Amino acid sequence: MDSKEVKLWGGRFEESVTDVVEKFTESISFDKALYKQDILGSIAHATMLASQGLITESERGAIVEGLVEIRNQIERGEFVWRTDREDVHMNIEAALTDLVGEPAKKLHTARSRNDQVSTDLRLWCKDAVVAIMSRIKNLQVALVKLALKNEGLIVPGYTHLQRAQPILLQHLLLAYVEQLQRDLLRLIDYRVRLNHCPLGACALAGTGLPIDRIKTSDALEFSHPLRNSIDAVSDRDFVIEFLSANAITAIHLSRLGEEWVLWASEEFGFITPSDSVSTGSSIMPQKKNPDPMELVRGKSARVIGDLVTLLVLCKGLPQAYNRDLQEDKEPLFDSVKTIIGMLEVTAEFADNITYNKERIEKSLPAGHLDATTLADYLVKKGVPFRTAHDIVGKSVALCVSRNCQLKDLSLPDLKAVSPEFEEDVYEFLGVENSIKKFTSYGSTGSECVAEQIHYWVRELGLS
Ligand code: ARG
Repeated sequence: MDSKEVKLWGGRFEESVTDVVEKFTESISFDKALYKQDILGSIAHATMLASQGLITESERGAIVEGLVEIRNQIERGEFVWRTDREDVHMNIEAALTDLVGEPAKKLHTARSRNDQVSTDLRLWCKDAVVAIMSRIKNLQVALVKLALKNEGLIVPGYTHLQRAQPILLQHLLLAYVEQLQRDLLRLIDYRVRLNHCPLGACALAGTGLPIDRIKTSDALEFSHPLRNSIDAVSDRDFVIEFLSANAITAIHLSRLGEEWVLWASEEFGFITPSDSVSTGSSIMPQKKNPDPMELVRGKSARVIGDLVTLLVLCKGLPQAYNRDLQEDKEPLFDSVKTIIGMLEVTAEFADNITYNKERIEKSLPAGHLDATTLADYLVKKGVPFRTAHDIVGKSVALCVSRNCQLKDLSLPDLKAVSPEFEEDVYEFLGVENSIKKFTSYGSTGSECVAEQIHYWVRELGLS
């Protein structure tokens, strides 16, 4: 056989494609990653064809045996992928014909590469979702463990990156755990829509042959065949949805990365990553950089880019299948590989950072973090909040002019701003006191945070 063998569609063609076209249109260089799913789909299809009397039992036997042998060859690294056979589907089908002869020619009965590729891809996504979910859970565990190591540590809370209110570090870390939980739930939701089988939709219109789509759907552990054959082969919303979920997760990780990079700076000095998760500089001997988390932030751009690629790819396509759709695979594979790497490295980073208690504590007096608690104090005395806001604003201005903290103001000083202030005001001032005053559901008060910790310890099976 020369390198330009007759294509599987050879009948109406007099010439083979040019080398340039062959190289440009092939997808085998990347869709060979779908070999397992492709073989599983073919086995389910052949089994259904046999049970419907469309092929004989012995033909089915030869096909299945051949497919299993091909899978073994691939896994042993002995299989030769051929660019002239274009994609994973034709490579496997043609290799099967080489291996078992005539029966293989019946495998493509009532099937098209259009429903085949969509089936392969959905099966691949089903596995990928599980892989990502387990990494999300591992990261949640790492964050909760990090929180447990730092019980009681108060850190400044920021809005606009300006000091806002005191918060417990545990509270902050659990915010990320919550975000990751929604990422997880999004994937769980997505799985329901993903779990429908395109196989048997054929090119776009279905077939007049007596196939049983429920049988193949069941065999491949889908919940049901897709109802509409045109929809089944034409849409890639299941890829878009997956990439959207990954993009959201990537953004969560990127923000955590940004926080850690910032907090590892000399200016903040709130965390010290261990050497095992840091890298140095080739020129500046003193440098120790939090590169993994910078790259988490950086790689989120790829994951977002992968989603945008899919959105733009699909937006102008007429029904039903178009070859453009071949371009769905690389962004999908890239997104999954990248997000898994990001989740793994973030968990490892979490295991290897120390919060610098002393440095953080030293920084807490700055920024009047207790000002809002002081306003709440006045509200409790019956002062309208807007008035309280104004009074505390004036008290802060006094502190700024004297370069002191709210708790350093004497009662006469405070009373000069508002007669509502009394001796008990000092129970509300200073970050430790301030933290104790938070009691609302979900707040940063020690009891509320302890409840949240308790919830996650149980939820993640850490107790
Ligand atoms: N390699 C193609 C893809 O990834 C498979 C489907 C090809 N179908 C076709 N009618 N040419 O989309």
